[in-house]
Order: sequence, then C-alpha cells, then structure tokens
Amino acid sequence: MLPSSTSEKSSKPSPPQASFGFRCIGCGSVTNTAAQDFRCSECGNLLEITDSSWNSRNPTALKTLWRERRSLNASLDLSGVWRFRELLPGPASEDSVVTLREGNTPLYELPQSSRRIGIPRLYAKHQGMNPTGSFKDTGMTVAATFARQAGYRWVACASTGNTSASMAAYAARGGMRSLVLVPEGKISWSKLSQALDYGALTCQLRTDFDGCLRLLQELVRQAPVYQLNSINPFRLEGQKTLALELLEQLDWQPPDHIIVPGGNLGNSSAIGKALLEMLDLGLIPSLPKLSVIQAEGANALVRTLREGGGKRLVSVQAETRATAIRIGNPASWEKAVKVLQATGGACEQVSELEIAQAKAEIGAEGIGCEPASAVTLAGLKKLLQQGFVKPEETVVLVLTGNLLKDPDFTMGFHRGDLFQGTADERESARLNPFRHPPVVLDASLAAVIKTLEQAEESNPQQSNA
Ligand code: F0G
Repeated sequence: MLPSSTSEKSSKPSPPQASFGFRCIGCGSVTNTAAQDFRCSECGNLLEITDSSWNSRNPTALKTLWRERRSLNASLDLSGVWRFRELLPGPASEDSVVTLREGNTPLYELPQSSRRIGIPRLYAKHQGMNPTGSFKDTGMTVAATFARQAGYRWVACASTGNTSASMAAYAARGGMRSLVLVPEGKISWSKLSQALDYGALTCQLRTDFDGCLRLLQELVRQAPVYQLNSINPFRLEGQKTLALELLEQLDWQPPDHIIVPGGNLGNSSAIGKALLEMLDLGLIPSLPKLSVIQAEGANALVRTLREGGGKRLVSVQAETRATAIRIGNPASWEKAVKVLQATGGACEQVSELEIAQAKAEIGAEGIGCEPASAVTLAGLKKLLQQGFVKPEETVVLVLTGNLLKDPDFTMGFHRGDLFQGTADERESARLNPFRHPPVVLDASLAAVIKTLEQAEESNPQQSNA
C-alpha cells in the first residue's frame, strides 16, 4: 500500500494555494484545482495554466529586472527558468523550489549550415545544454516543485527517455521517489542509464511509448502518484522560458521563424503559449511563425492537419530511429494545432536519411545534438524549398537534446551500419561524405602520418574556418 504523501496525513495531497488557475483549452472554463489527469471535468479537454497577474506587468521593467538577475547569485536567479518567475505560476515559497540551475542555454550561430543552405541569419537554441541534457529540465523544475509542494511522495512518467532522465533527477533533488515507464528496447541506453543513476524505479514495458502513457493514465487514477508527463500543465509553464530566454538573447527582436521537433507536442504548445503571452504583454511587437517538424514514421500531427483538417487526431503506429519522437498518439495535439494556427507556422515531415544527414551537419558545427533535434534542420531545408521560409529571414532551430543522449545512433552513422538491412541501405551511400569513421592502425608514427596525409588529400575543402 502506497502512502499518499510525504506527510503523515492519510488524506490526498492538497493543491497549492495560488493566484493562478487551470483553464480548459476546449470550453474555456477556469478552476482552482485540477484532477490527476489534468483534464477538464466538464468537457474532458486538456488544461493550461492562466494567471491574470501576468498581464498587468510593465514589459520594460520586466526586461530590466530579468537582465539584472543574471548577475545575482540567489538560487532562483541562477535558474534560467525561475529568473522569469513573474510569468510562471508562483510556488509557496522560494525555498520550496526544486532546481538544478536549468535553462541558461546558449544560442549558437550555425555558420556552415548557414552557408550551405543560404540563410545568413540561422541560429540554434541548444536546450541539450540543460543539466540532464534535454529541454525537459526547464519544465521539470516547475512541475517537480508543485509535486513536492502538494506533498506527493511518488512522481511518475511514461517516456521515450529524456522525460524519465529529467524527472528522476528532479525527484531525487526534491526528495521524492520516481517511477519510470519506458518502452522496452526502444530508448537509448544513455537515457536509461540516467534514470537508473538518479535512483528511479524503472520499468521497461513490452509496449511502445503510447502504451506506456495509456498505462500511466490508469495508474494515476488508482494510486497517489503525481504524473509528470507534458499533460501536466506545470511542465509547459517551465518550458515557456525557452521562448523568453531566446527573445532576451535576441534583444527582444522576434525571429521570423522558430522550428521545433514534434513528438507528444508539449514543447511546441509551451513555446507557442509563451509567444502569445509575450505579444499580449507587449514584450514583443510581433509573433514569429512556430513550425513543427516530425519524422515521416511518426507523423501524427502532419496527418492530423492534412487529413483531419486539424479537427481530429490521426494516430499512427510510430517507427523512427529518432526514438525521442517515436510517438503515434500525441497527447497535446490540440494545443499544438492552436499555436500553429495562431502563429501561422507550418508542419512538415522528414525522412530517416534526411534526419541522419542533418544530425551529421549539426555535429560538424562542433555542437551536435540527438537525432530528434536534427529534424529541425532537415525540416528547414524543406520549408526553404517550398518558399515558406525566405533566405533573408531569421530562423531559430530548437535543438532539444544533447549529442551524448544517443551514442549508438552516432556510432552507427559514422561506422556506416546505421541503415544496414533496411530499405534505405542503398540510398544511404549518398551520406558517405558526412561520415567520419574511426580508423584502426598499428601504433606507429608512420601509420598515423600516412593517414593524416590521406585525410588531407581526400577532403582538402574541410577547414576550421
Ligand atoms: N526532442 C527530444 C530530444 C525529446 O526527448 C522529445 C520528447 C521531443 C523532441 C519532442 O517533444 O514531446 O514535447 O513534442 N521526448 C519525450 C520523452 C516524449 O519522453 O522524453 P514533445
């Protein structure tokens, strides 16, 4: 029998007292509390967090305050999420915040890709530089804070790997226990090992991500376990700060395009929510177009828009080597459709070969990312061809996960066996110029010098410039 909370009380954990409320994205009704499935009790649609105090702030004063905090050493100011706390749901006290100094991620230029595809103003916002190596940390600090504040002893998630790594870390920091449900054999070892190291109870289920999420929904109805999937609206509030931090890095000049990978569609929803709130508040003069890119084999949103007119979800049996976004039944599809429509963004899909090539190109920039993040560059090339993105426009790609998250993919690509035995095997030969396989040599100076000379001869164009 699970105790219901960290306290001795036998009652269910009580919701925090706060100024924010939960608004249904379907019928618009607002309540002070949310059920464990974070769905509207009237119409069953997903909830989002709203707070009337957000709108009454002075945008110029906020910009100054946020910038000043960058030179301060208080725990909340060191977090790239809580630095923007005026636009987040407020925790009970500053001491109750569970933080690993998340956010504060770099905005990089991509000079080689810029030149290759002909977009001079191309940037990557690298969320893989967060404490556990993915964007999930920005949401997890907020959701874990509210889980602990509500007195939960157990938190849980279904995951393709990154959510579980992040949740396990924040639960550990917050003194909570964590339950991870992941599809067996379908997540990278690197992510799985993080969950183990941070002390999660890790269950590898013989199903896919969608099966794990279904089971979690049933579990939270029966056990006092707090769910930390992106259905949890506190997660999305934290993930909003990606947009705030990005705009601050761009001196509040909105880019023309922000391009994100789409899986369960929480992140695109969060970024879109932030952009709309920033416009409302007067922090930015206009909206960037927010576009979502999916893998061809996990293209539920693409099909939902093309075949369902954005009105009904078209689920798919997901299959892609970009395992982070191997999701066929995205929970936040309606939120994502709304923000795509509100910002005028596009939704595209890219092939496995296009993902592999884009990942190698981002690696060759010296920053790298995991496969799911690389869909952004692959997608940009398509949007450029279609004329949706214009060469003179400013484009920001959101890189969601660190290169080290999926070393098997990277090794397979460079060794040349990633597509072995698949329908893409023959065509994958065209990616050979992007491969940098390791060379095994006798330990002799002559052998190394010869290899060096051969490398120079075979690729005299490659330079550090
Ligand atoms: N990129 C990476 C690296 C991810 O891990 C995920 C999702 C996404 C993109 C897609 O984001 O779901 O908000 O649309 N990973 C989840 C997980 C599902 O369990 O780690 P989304």
